[in-house]
Amino acid sequence: MNILILGSGGREHSLAWAIKQNPKCDRLIVAPGNAGIAEIADCADIDILDGGVVATFAEENTIDFVIIGPEAPLAAGLADTLRAAGLLVFGPSAAAAQLEASKSFTKAVCDAAGAPTAAYGHFTDAEAARAYIKAQGAPIVVKADGLAAGKGVIVAMTEAEALSAIDEMFDGGFGAAGAEVVIEDFMEGEEASFFVLCDGKTILPVGTAQDHKRAFDGDTGPNTGGMGAYSPAPVMTEAVTHKALAEIIRPTMDEMAKRGTPFQGVLFCGLMIQNGQPRLVEYNVRFGDPECQCLMMRLGGQVLDLLHACAEERLDQMQVNWADDHALTIVMAAKGYPGAYERGTEIKGLQSLPEDSVHMVFHAGTRLADGKMTAAGGRVLNVTARGTTLAEAHERAYAMAQTIDWPQGFYRSDIGWRAL
Ligand code: GLY
Repeated sequence: MNILILGSGGREHSLAWAIKQNPKCDRLIVAPGNAGIAEIADCADIDILDGGVVATFAEENTIDFVIIGPEAPLAAGLADTLRAAGLLVFGPSAAAAQLEASKSFTKAVCDAAGAPTAAYGHFTDAEAARAYIKAQGAPIVVKADGLAAGKGVIVAMTEAEALSAIDEMFDGGFGAAGAEVVIEDFMEGEEASFFVLCDGKTILPVGTAQDHKRAFDGDTGPNTGGMGAYSPAPVMTEAVTHKALAEIIRPTMDEMAKRGTPFQGVLFCGLMIQNGQPRLVEYNVRFGDPECQCLMMRLGGQVLDLLHACAEERLDQMQVNWADDHALTIVMAAKGYPGAYERGTEIKGLQSLPEDSVHMVFHAGTRLADGKMTAAGGRVLNVTARGTTLAEAHERAYAMAQTIDWPQGFYRSDIGWRAL
């Protein structure tokens, strides 16, 4: 099978790494990819937001299966364009990708499906939004309705913070994403990420994880795209998993099918769990980054069979073969991230690290320049390890991180603290 993966981050590197292990993979191309991905697959510098370009590229390269990694092309309708061109695609239609691309859409679907989530208001003008915040009080959560690269959610601990978030959104601080806002009740509890594949009918869980959103140790500092993750998430007990499937995910998938826009792809369910009761925080319509890196380390080559069956609506014939193991990933980021940071700094020491079924450094933002590995983004490397216990995975990952020589980078020293 000739496979094309779209995306350029650590998520796509880990997908490529796992898929490459499956003997059904003949040729693997990642577009646009990065310097780490280029070590295991062909990379192609094409515009993945342009459906016509991707469809032509796939035809020219006799691609049998396209896997779409990030949310932006999904929300822009790439899966629809590629399917219309006759390609087999993993990833939801633009209509189904609304579950991530519009917070108010998701809230309306949850209302119709009876799925437990926070009470909310949806606003298209600042005055009404301000009045709602003053009536509700803080803490309160202000969300830009549209896609805002992980930056559109403000958990306001004071009324002043919430009002200032409204000003920023309606003043265009979040671009078109902030033209409408959703304001939600603050939910107490422990967060977890639950990933399921859905082919429009069958739902198949493929793992749980916990992310670390804040930049610095002790969950302090600014919000980021994620500074590290581990899988499985202990808070996702069998009982919580069962409730999440029965009360949240199944009703949502049924509602999407009823609307004539069935969901096909991976549904990333951000859950808040309190006293054994899960409630939906948000849906995303792609694998989490860096959660995916832990899931791929644990699933390995079978992931190709699972994604392929999902795209062919055969998930009812599939099962996941679980190893009783743990994985942990540490994000190494450029100093300054998530604010301004330097690009082009050299990273040394990667060659001496092991690369096997329990150790892997996935590249998130790297570039090879004059034969040197350099940083080319905010989140740069995902140092990932597997173990029979979380403590073992943690020890292995930190031992690797310590040998990477990159003075302009930083990482959290407490990934996994909650479970350890
Ligand atoms: N790690 C969170 C996300 O991928 O949205």
